[in-house]
Amino acid sequence: MRLKQRRSHGAGVGLRLPHIAEVVATRPPIGWFEIHPENFLANPHATELLSELSQHYPISVHTVGVSIGSASGIDRSHLKRVRALIDMVDPILVSGHLAWSTHAGDYLNDLLPLPYDEEALQLLAAHIHEVQEGLGRPYLVENPSSYVGFGTSTMNEVDFLGELVRLTGCQLLCDVSNVHLSAHNMGYDAYQYIDGLPADAIGELHLGGFTYEEDEANPGAELLVDTHATVVAEPAWDLYAYAIRRFGPKPTLIEWDNDIPPLAILLGEAARADEVAAQAIAPEARRAAAR
Ligand SMILES: [Fe+2]
Repeated sequence: MRLKQRRSHGAGVGLRLPHIAEVVATRPPIGWFEIHPENFLANPHATELLSELSQHYPISVHTVGVSIGSASGIDRSHLKRVRALIDMVDPILVSGHLAWSTHAGDYLNDLLPLPYDEEALQLLAAHIHEVQEGLGRPYLVENPSSYVGFGTSTMNEVDFLGELVRLTGCQLLCDVSNVHLSAHNMGYDAYQYIDGLPADAIGELHLGGFTYEEDEANPGAELLVDTHATVVAEPAWDLYAYAIRRFGPKPTLIEWDNDIPPLAILLGEAARADEVAAQAIAPEARRAAAR
């Protein structure tokens, strides 16, 4: 039996290029690794190491270049390349963002927002169907980090995500830090947001570090920016515990993509996620045992 089948799917960390050699050499105790396929598609040596690691760890594939929100459509040749990598690593999950990042063949280094209206809903639903068909797997759609809204939106983000689930059978990746950050920036209640998501559709959670910056459009106010460059903040841990109580334990990624620290720091954050999740459900477990 391959080791990866015996591991739990608690917390995982991103397998980033600076850590690959260390991971191969030391095989750290961690539930799973997440990869961005785009980091491997043009790097045969890293892909070879990934292939080896996928024999020992569950892998979650998080696409950053499959742009389901692009009006110009899905790049099928990119999708095919991602499919080949997916077939190689046999991931536990495949996910991507509720955003657009390409237009007419140009790749933009950003995840750009969409209005939440009927036209965007139909466009995204068609693209999610295409991606799920192309990859041969369910796709998890991640809630974005938000800084501005569209005046033309006709529904809120929670209802929009719920409609996507209903129309496509996709699952959701709930980025808890994004919920906290967007709620702060957009002025809504993060806990109500978690309450409104369809719990049955949640397949994975993210936790990432954000930074506080001055809001240039609103002097004196703070904007939270999704930088993935630091530890998870305390309010996000509190919201994570709440999400675990509502959704149950889910594979949870510690996201850290910039100013990448030593691997031990990431493993420490993942251990904390496992602890917080265990504590969050402990009272329920005790009640169930007493029944
Ligand atoms: Fe995320």
